[in-house]
Amino acid sequence: MIIAIDGPAGSGKSTTAKKVAAQLNLMHLDTGAMYRAVALYILDQDIAESHLNNHNQMSQILDGIEIKISNETNNVFLNGKDVSIQIRENRVSDFVSEVSAISLVRERMVHLQREIAMGNNVVLEGRDIGTRVFPNADVKVYLNADVNERGQRRFKELVKQGEEITLDAVIRDIESRDLKDSSREHSPLEKAKDAIEIDTTKLSIDAQVNEIVSLIETNN
Ligand code: DC
Repeated sequence: MIIAIDGPAGSGKSTTAKKVAAQLNLMHLDTGAMYRAVALYILDQDIAESHLNNHNQMSQILDGIEIKISNETNNVFLNGKDVSIQIRENRVSDFVSEVSAISLVRERMVHLQREIAMGNNVVLEGRDIGTRVFPNADVKVYLNADVNERGQRRFKELVKQGEEITLDAVIRDIESRDLKDSSREHSPLEKAKDAIEIDTTKLSIDAQVNEIVSLIETNN
C-alpha cells in the first residue's frame, strides 16, 4: 500500500507522515531528505554552479552520491556518513530548491524512491509523490497551511536547533521556496487532481493524523 502526502514547506507533512506510519505500522519515507542530502553534498564539495547545468558533469556528480535511509530511525546516510542533522541546516534549506529543480537529480531520486517503496507498505511525503512518483497511490493527501503559520512552525524548529534567524526571514524563505518549487519545469509542487486537500492552519497534529488514518482505513 502506498500513501502519498504532498504539500509545501511547513505544512506539517513530516510530523504527520511519521505519526501516521507509526500508528498503522507502515514504513515512512521523507523524500525531501533525499534532495537535501544531494544539496549538502554539492555545498560541501564546493561544486561550481556551472557544473549543475551540465548534464555529463551532473551525472558524474550523482554517480558519486549514495543515499541510504535507515528503516528504523529514518536517519539519512550520505556516502556512509550520518547527515541527518546537517541536512536541516539553513544553508541547505536555502539551496535545496535549486538542486531539486535539476531534472537529472529528480530522475535519480524518483528512481530511488520507487525502488525503496516498491512492494512495501509506505507513507511517502514530498512534493510530487501523488503526481509523479506514485500517480496510482492508494491514498493521496495534499497538506496546506497559511504561509504565516508555516513560517511560525519552521521558525520554532530552527530556534530549537540553535540557528539565529528572524521570523520575517523564515517567512520570506518559505515564500521564495514555494515559488521555486511550484514554478519549476520538472514535476512542480502541485496538488494531484485526485488528492484530498487538508488545510492544517488551525488543526492540531493529532487531528491531522486522525483524519489521514481514517482516510486510509476507509480505503482499505
Ligand atoms: O520537505 P523538505 O522541505 O525537506 O524538502 C526540501 C526540498 O526538496 C523542497 O524545497 C523541495 C524539494 N522536494 C522535491 O522537489 N520533491 C520532493 N518529493 C520532496 C522535496
